[in-house]
Amino acid sequence: MKILGIETSCDETGVAVYETNVGLLAEGLFSQVELHARFGGVVPELASRDHIAKLTPMIREVLANAGLQLSELDAVAYTAGPGLVGALMVGGSLATALAVGLGIPVIPVHHMEAHLLVTMLEDDPPTLPFLALLVSGGHTLLVEAEAIGDYRIVGETLDDAAGEAFDKVARLLSLPYPGGPALAALAEEGDPIAFNFPRPMRHKGLNFSFSGLKTAVRIALERARLLDGTLDENVRKDIAASFQAAAVDSLVEKSIGALEHTGKTKLVVAGGVGANQELRRKLRLACLERGATVYYPRPALCTDNGAMIAYAGWCRRNEAQLSASIIARPRWPLDELSPVS
Ligand code: KG4
Ligand code: ZN
Repeated sequence: MKILGIETSCDETGVAVYETNVGLLAEGLFSQVELHARFGGVVPELASRDHIAKLTPMIREVLANAGLQLSELDAVAYTAGPGLVGALMVGGSLATALAVGLGIPVIPVHHMEAHLLVTMLEDDPPTLPFLALLVSGGHTLLVEAEAIGDYRIVGETLDDAAGEAFDKVARLLSLPYPGGPALAALAEEGDPIAFNFPRPMRHKGLNFSFSGLKTAVRIALERARLLDGTLDENVRKDIAASFQAAAVDSLVEKSIGALEHTGKTKLVVAGGVGANQELRRKLRLACLERGATVYYPRPALCTDNGAMIAYAGWCRRNEAQLSASIIARPRWPLDELSPVS
C-alpha cells in the first residue's frame, strides 16, 4: 500500500509517500520560517496562502522522486488537527479533492499522534506499550501509550508549551524566530549554572509549568542590562544556557517520574523540542541510570514533516474512507482518539 501524507497544520508544508514493508519512498518539506520571521511568529493567513502555493508543486516533485504516478497511490493521509484552521483546510481540501479524483480513500490524521508514532519509522524502532514525551510549539504531554490510539495523558503543561517557552525566551534574548534552535545554539556557548533559574513544579506531580521560568528569565535580564540598555554578550549566553538547563531538567524529571508512575521501561521523545541536543543528552543519561530505554526520531522527523503523516495514515488505514467530508479540528485532545481496530 502506498500512502501520500500531507502536513499543513502550521508553518511547514510537508509531503511524503510511505509504502508498506518498504518505508519512506520520498519526502519534501518547505519551512515558512523566512515568511513569518519579520513578524516574530506565525501569521495564520500568510501560512494558509503559502501552503496553497507550495503544496501542489511539492506533491508533483515528491511523486517524481518516488518514481510514482498519481494513479499508483492507494490512499491520501492529511493532518486534520490540531493546528491553524485555515492551514489545516488547505491540506484537507487538497487531500480530499485528490482522493476523490483518483477514486481512493482519505485518512484524517491527528498531528500529535503522528509525532508519537514517527519514531517507529527508524531502525530499531520502539514497540508499544511505551511512554511518550511530546514536546512541540503547542503541546507538552506525557502520554502512556498502550496501543495505537489507546492513550492516557499522565502529565501536561498548565500554561506555556515547552517550545513556546523556548520561543518566548529567545525573543527576550532578541533571537530570531523560531527561537528554539537559535536559543539552543546560543546556549552551547554559555554557562548553564551561571543563573539559578527555578525548576518549575519540582516534586509536584507530573504536570509542567513554564511561565514562571520565563518570568524569572525576564527579571534576570532586566537586572543584567547595562545602563545604556545593552546586555553583555557573555551574560546573554549564560542566560540562554541557564534557561535551557532549567527547562530541560523539568522535562527530564517529569519524564522519569512518569516512567516510575506508569511502570513503563521505554520512553519515546517526539515533537520539535525533541531535536534539542541537551534534552537528548540528559534524558539518555537519566534513562540509563534507571534501566529504561529512550528512543528519538532523527531531528528532521522531530519537527513537523509529511513522513509522520503518511506513516500515521498507514497505522490508521482501517479508517480510510472514500469521499469523506473534510475534517479540520483546531483543538483535538489526543486522548479523544479511539484505538485502531
Ligand atoms: O513539532 P514542531 O515542529 O511544531 C509544532 O507542532 O509545534 O515544534 C516546533 C517547536 C518550536 O517552538 C521550536 O522553537 C521548537 O519546537 N524547537 C526547539 C528546537 N528545535 C525546534 N526547541 C529547542 N531546541 C531545539 N533544538
Ligand atoms: Zn508538530
